[in-house]
Amino acid sequence: MKLTGHTILITGGGSGIGGGLAKAFHKEGNKVIITGRRKPTLKAFADKHKGMDFFPMDVSKDADIQKLYKFISKKYPKLDVLINNAGIWQNQDFTKAATLGKHLFDEIDINLKGLIRMTQVFLPLLSKQSESVLMNVSSGLAYMPLSMAPVYCATKAAVHSFSMSLRHQLRKTSVTVIELAPPAVETDLGKVPGKKDEFEYPKLGLEPFIALTMKALESNQTELPIGQSKMLRLGGRLLPSVFFNMLNPKK
Ligand SMILES: NC(=O)c1ccc[n+]([C@@H]2O[C@H](COP(=O)([O-])OP(=O)(O)OC[C@H]3O[C@@H](n4cnc5c(N)ncnc54)[C@H](OP(=O)(O)O)[C@@H]3O)[C@@H](O)[C@H]2O)c1
Repeated sequence: MKLTGHTILITGGGSGIGGGLAKAFHKEGNKVIITGRRKPTLKAFADKHKGMDFFPMDVSKDADIQKLYKFISKKYPKLDVLINNAGIWQNQDFTKAATLGKHLFDEIDINLKGLIRMTQVFLPLLSKQSESVLMNVSSGLAYMPLSMAPVYCATKAAVHSFSMSLRHQLRKTSVTVIELAPPAVETDLGKVPGKKDEFEYPKLGLEPFIALTMKALESNQTELPIGQSKMLRLGGRLLPSVFFNMLNPKK
């Protein structure tokens, strides 16, 4: 895709990977609108980037998506890029299944159902433009799961599958479906205040990750595994059990 001249909506755009993308696209001269649940975070981020707009909302709530759609279709009818980035990560231990409480399905509600509902609601607007992009943020773990976060990885495999089907269905429309599959990146994902981060693998810094992503976006590829996600994609296909055991050693 070309990197300039767009009106771009980014869910979860006030921090982490979404924030990195928002900053990079804003720098390229695009109109960027960011969303997320925390209004002060969004406002502080948008205030730092002249011309950036924000809208507080929760992608797991249908009513919020409808409100966002009303806001965007009225104020930004030329919206031509939607980046479905908002997501959460939780570690879950099914050997202690009885302790897995009311948050068990949160990733399904946010990472998967939220992304699908956003897609359904915004596609008619995107389809009106002569060219548009719908970008879904999956993960390298879409290709190969990490067993400490079983529901998270299941949602990302589902986002990968959904993006493939969507791309095929929309092939004769003006909408290009891009899947961005980040590797482990230094953000707040999965961090619980006061708790040790159990994720033991090396992470890519946010800035180098965004630089690699912007470069990859300039290509005409529609599935974009970045950094180590490339290895997970290939390994997951060629040697699935070897790669699974490497990622999930039996301690
Ligand atoms: N970091 C990694 O290693 C990594 C690797 C692969 C894929 N990813 C994917 O990249 C995406 C961004 O993750 P990140 O690493 O940037 O995580 P992050 O730093 O925790 O940021 C997540 C963003 O999503 C927003 N968000 C979360 N739940 C939301 C909801 N219900 N409604 C609206 N916004 C919501 C958050 O804002 P609020 O809290 O204010 O709502 C925040 O801005 C996720 O889809 C993640 O799965 C990340």
